[in-house]
Amino acid sequence: MEKERRDFMGIGLGVFTAVGGVGALYAMKRSWDPLPSVKAAGFTEIDLAGAKDNVLTVEKWRGKPIFVLKKSADMKADDRDIVIGKDRFHVTIGLCTHLGCIPAYKKDDKKFMCACHGGEFDVSGNDIKAPAPSPLVIPPFKINGTKLVLGEEGPEYQKMKDAGLTA
Ligand code: FES
Repeated sequence: MEKERRDFMGIGLGVFTAVGGVGALYAMKRSWDPLPSVKAAGFTEIDLAGAKDNVLTVEKWRGKPIFVLKKSADMKADDRDIVIGKDRFHVTIGLCTHLGCIPAYKKDDKKFMCACHGGEFDVSGNDIKAPAPSPLVIPPFKINGTKLVLGEEGPEYQKMKDAGLTA
């Protein structure tokens, strides 16, 4: 009788310990996983399938504005273009490289103009008028079908980066 009681207590303690161990592992895993909001802030997916020629859309990535412009056939091709199928896109961080204002897109003139000090950029983000000192910055991206994943460095981005075209 005494032995059965001890066996029962032993099993009970084993179950209690196992449940506690699983709970502790779950709690540790939760603390190691990034929060959903951190994942969302780090990566932004943009579907370019519905983009229209010469229409600028402004997305947001890591708190920064991202310019997305589908180039029309009359716009000059540039090594900074993101090419998906037969379409070419301008995708840059929409902050002027002079002092960080957000340039406006002038659809008819097909260029970006910064109201702060008059700097200008062409439709590929190249600086064309001082005091803009350098091209608009291309954010890290990965092409996934018709989608862009901002925050990941795909082979196309790596190639541009190696050629010194992203910043
Ligand atoms: S911040 Fe754009 S030209 Fe100065």
